[in-house]
Amino acid sequence: MNKRSLKLAVSWLLAIGLAIFVFSSTQRLEAQDTVVDIWQGIYTDDQVTRGASTYQTECASCHREDLTGQDMSPSLVGIGFSFKWEGRNLQELYASMRYGMPQSAPGSLSNSAYVDLTAFLLSRNGYPAGNAELSADENELAKIEISRQP
Ligand code: HEC
Repeated sequence: MNKRSLKLAVSWLLAIGLAIFVFSSTQRLEAQDTVVDIWQGIYTDDQVTRGASTYQTECASCHREDLTGQDMSPSLVGIGFSFKWEGRNLQELYASMRYGMPQSAPGSLSNSAYVDLTAFLLSRNGYPAGNAELSADENELAKIEISRQP
């Protein structure tokens, strides 16, 4: 191979590499940009019913039956909830329970119990139920922003 065709080959390789890089980074951006609107109804009533029952046995002793909290246990409704969680995503809320609650035995419930509790908290804070079950997949939960009512 002479010098000129070597140069040509190198420029082609660079161009192809650049094209692949640009393509894959736009793909990544698109994946990140997929945001699910929490106001379209992202959990079911059945999840709320199950979550409510788990809440009463596992959580109410500290956060109270009406979720308003007491002593060191924060309120999980109203301004206590919105101040802490608005603008964050559902993975963060889910994870705070999945890895931290109940305080005496973190992680002792099943993933589906934690996701049902997430649905229960959302319903008590005015977010609507829908037809699709909320999944316990943390990557999916991360796409859902806890946004203020539009
Ligand atoms: C033994 C008492 C106790 C029990 C039982 C308990 N919690 Fe908590 N919880 C706390 C305390 C104290 C905090 C604040 C400190 C912290 O975040 O660890 C807290 C924090 C939280 C938070 C974060 C709220 C915020 O504003 O930071 C959530 C959400 C939560 N609890 C949900 C639950 C759920 C759901 C259950 C039942 C599975 C539960 N807790 C059971 C005591 C408790």
